[in-house]
Amino acid sequence: MPHPDPAASSASSASSASSASSASPASPATPTTAPAPASGFGDARGMWDARFAQPGLLFGATANAFLQREAQRLAPRSRVLSVADGEGRNSIWLAEQGHAVTAFDLSPVAVAKAGAWAAERGQNLDLRVAGVDDWAWTPQAFDAVVAIFVQFADPAMRARLFAGMWQTLKPGGVLLLQGYTPKQLDYRTGGPGKLEHLYTTPLLHELLPLAEWLLLQDYEDTLEEGPGHAGRSALIGAVARKPG
Ligand SMILES: C[S@@+](CC[C@H](N)C(=O)[O-])C[C@H]1O[C@@H](n2cnc3c(N)ncnc32)[C@H](O)[C@@H]1O
Repeated sequence: MPHPDPAASSASSASSASSASSASPASPATPTTAPAPASGFGDARGMWDARFAQPGLLFGATANAFLQREAQRLAPRSRVLSVADGEGRNSIWLAEQGHAVTAFDLSPVAVAKAGAWAAERGQNLDLRVAGVDDWAWTPQAFDAVVAIFVQFADPAMRARLFAGMWQTLKPGGVLLLQGYTPKQLDYRTGGPGKLEHLYTTPLLHELLPLAEWLLLQDYEDTLEEGPGHAGRSALIGAVARKPG
């Protein structure tokens, strides 16, 4: 039985986790050592680190299938940001498609694993340790933002996350987003297991009011993404274009 993605991270103040480290094949990511401050919601970084410290890859070695389908929309050599990228399955695959990839994640353990894996694959990525609330969200910096299963965010953090992702997209850029819908609470084959973290199409319209929706689809599929996401799943896939 897959572990649910713990939602404990949702309101945790990850903001002190910002000592970003870059990784390249020559120098895999150097994890930050400062512990994230505990909050009423627990130590998000410690919890994710413990999960990623287990042998193997929590979400598998294959890039997310929705991402693989929809990335054909990206222009060659796009500048891509992968948010909460985990152990690197999505960012490394994007780099292998020829894109210039930056990725960040709260967990130094995950980022170190991604750095070592990227080096093994001969891919040069900009990998950083950072939380959503640490990330600079430089305006109009990326052609695409990739957010695959970033439902650790509770409604307040989610509003900041979506505002940041939108801000950092260039006009004409796209956000590729995959998450679980409330029906996932029946399946419990992955995801945060908390209704307020799950996505519906009206919620996404509300979060991205200016988006041009190239795709916004509620569907079901059977995921085989490591032990973390395994089995029948209630999903949403979205491609939102920033006008301009
Ligand atoms: C369900 S995993 C998805 C990982 C990756 N996107 C994938 O599809 O393989 C959620 C990720 O969010 C990260 N995370 C949790 N809280 C975060 C935060 N506040 N800021 C950035 N990343 C966070 C975790 O470390 C974990 O890697």
